[in-house]
Amino acid sequence: MFFYTKMLLVFATNNRNKFNEIRDLLGGDFKLLSLDDIGCPDEIPEIHTTLEANASGKAWYIFQRYGYNAFADDTGLEIDALNGEPGVYSARYAGNTKNSEKNMNKVLRKLHGITNRKAQFRTVISLVQEGKEIIFEGIVKGTILNTKRGKSGFGYDPIFLPEGSDKTFAEMNLSEKNRISHRAVAFRKLIEYLTEK
Ligand code: IMP
Repeated sequence: MFFYTKMLLVFATNNRNKFNEIRDLLGGDFKLLSLDDIGCPDEIPEIHTTLEANASGKAWYIFQRYGYNAFADDTGLEIDALNGEPGVYSARYAGNTKNSEKNMNKVLRKLHGITNRKAQFRTVISLVQEGKEIIFEGIVKGTILNTKRGKSGFGYDPIFLPEGSDKTFAEMNLSEKNRISHRAVAFRKLIEYLTEK
């Protein structure tokens, strides 16, 4: 008789790159399912005002409507001098087109003449398993430059200089960024938790 012992887990994201990356890291004891795999065509709403509530909302959505254990993430750039903006609104800071150049230009405009350039990227992951939720967090601290530097990465990478580095995120290759990034830190915590249980 065949028993299927792998734990099924849904990663509630539409980002295929993130999905593949985490599936590789999780290893053999887990079968990671995508939204497609469970027949979920929904654009899960991200309507909340905190990263925690958005990540949590997505994971609970899958658990409650589809009955699978699930996790979801949300990330924002939090700038001290802007009271934590763009934060949960990072993707759409300069409008619904989610244009990174416009988002960065808005940040640079708002910080013009301001000497406190401290900022952090923060990723929050919510894991909902058997009706219980655990939150994981990853933070990388740094500063916002006056001009963009580098072509790699995405989002706000060209204007973010991580603490202790002389390269912006956009001047690093993916493996350099993954060594220190907010997302990598949060996902390492999730994976450690899942694989230690
Ligand atoms: P998400 O929650 O991963 O979709 O991230 C929301 C938004 O935050 C993205 O659309 C980007 O604008 C920004 N962001 C998230 N992670 C990064 C990063 O690693 N570098 C630069 N910007 C990021």
